[in-house]
Amino acid sequence: MKINALSPIGIFDSGIGGLLIAKEIQIQMPHEDFIYFGDTKNMPYGEKSKEFIIKNSMKIASFLYKKKCKALVIACNSIASNALNIIHKKFYKKILIFNVIDPVIKNTIFLSYKRIGIIATPATIHSNFYINQIKKYYHHLDVVQISAPLLATIIENGWEIKKINPIISNYLNHLKSIDAILLACTHYLFLKQEIDNFYHGKVHLIDIQKIVVQEIKKKLNEKKLLCLNSTYNRFPIFYTSSSIPIFFEKKVQILFGKKVFFKTHIFNFV
Ligand code: DGL
Repeated sequence: MKINALSPIGIFDSGIGGLLIAKEIQIQMPHEDFIYFGDTKNMPYGEKSKEFIIKNSMKIASFLYKKKCKALVIACNSIASNALNIIHKKFYKKILIFNVIDPVIKNTIFLSYKRIGIIATPATIHSNFYINQIKKYYHHLDVVQISAPLLATIIENGWEIKKINPIISNYLNHLKSIDAILLACTHYLFLKQEIDNFYHGKVHLIDIQKIVVQEIKKKLNEKKLLCLNSTYNRFPIFYTSSSIPIFFEKKVQILFGKKVFFKTHIFNFV
């Protein structure tokens, strides 16, 4: 399959979480074209089994591969922590694969912390992916992690911030006395401000979007696949696996404006 610098980047998540990664891609690489897939029918992934996450994310990866994407961005921690090896095995010879965990863990920023907190979905926490990776690279680091059941669903459903705030406090009360916090679910990136307020700016929020997209840009450049100027204006395409949820549509338009395409793609699972 012929891909080149003009080919799109395929980005996927269970829902709106990956939109902030897509936005950062647009900020750091304004000429890139992308196709986004939100598995809205099956959201939340964080409450699903490893087998379910593997099966569904493989379908999405194949779908984006068939759309002739030059790279896949797994913009979901629940998928990356449970299915990365399998996705990698199947696609690494065919397409560049990025995820939201590896570049963060390998960032030297961790050398400056003593104790960090991780908040993630149950599927990510149960996978032990973060703990195992962190242990591999940073022997000095003390890690405290909690899972936040249903927080991603609450965000996906567009609850008002004043209703989400007490829920955040409830979870973060278990993550005190830390130097930095890792928002290890892309949905939580929508709550950065509220989380910063909870800690009164005294706990460092690791800038996941920036770190992840810097890595994508660097690799695309090395492989001569970075698009340096667009020859024609293509609008981003946003696929959902259910008819498009109102809040998803609203978030896309806030972040990317009205010049976008929405499409629904329903998988036939056997
Ligand atoms: N955004 C996803 C993540 O980063 C998960 C949300 C969900 O539970 O579907 O883990």
